[in-house]
Amino acid sequence: METHVVDHPLAAALLTTMRDERSDSPTFRSALRELTQMLIYEATRDAQVEEFDVTTPVAVTTGYRLAQPPLLVPVLRAGLGMVDQASLTIPQSRVGFVGMARDEETHQPVPYLESLPADLSGLPVFVLDPMLATGGSMVHTIDLLVARGATDITAVCVVAAPPGVEALANSGHPVRLVTATVDERLDENAFIVPGLGDAGDRQFGPR
Ligand code: PRP
Repeated sequence: METHVVDHPLAAALLTTMRDERSDSPTFRSALRELTQMLIYEATRDAQVEEFDVTTPVAVTTGYRLAQPPLLVPVLRAGLGMVDQASLTIPQSRVGFVGMARDEETHQPVPYLESLPADLSGLPVFVLDPMLATGGSMVHTIDLLVARGATDITAVCVVAAPPGVEALANSGHPVRLVTATVDERLDENAFIVPGLGDAGDRQFGPR
């Protein structure tokens, strides 16, 4: 599986703000929004463009636009903090929603919402979730997308852990990963170390 770690000083500074336990919710959400813009830049780096004529005040020249804007799929709750910025960055995108909560005992994902177009064949899909821990939530989300015909899927994350990266790679699904970091490990509660805590709780408060 192709894994792209965004290696940029501004991304590293924003990630640091998100890691810092002293960052309050508004600060955390703001850093996530800004970092999402950089992640989306990287996720679209090799996207196909189509050309068209654009008329400047001086002459006609070649303009460019994404040939196929992706479907954005935030995984609730934590992915909600990424979708506004991603939509601003790619304004032509449509948005689907998946709701998934990890059971705190078993660490298995429990799906509670699925609002997606019926047919995803031929449509690139960007799944937005700041955390890739065991990978259970992401693999389950991608199962839903593949069942609807998706063949071009990008997982856009902030912090990934090695077991999550491995789970994605072993899923056999057509997916690549764009993330700001791959951290060291998971602890006994399947929390990413050093990580940034629980991205859903830090944005919206505890469930
Ligand atoms: C977190 C996170 C991912 C998932 C990652 O969500 O946002 O969706 O856990 O863990 P995994 O890779 O082991 O599946 P959580 O269940 O805390 O829900 P929330 O976003 O509503 O807070």
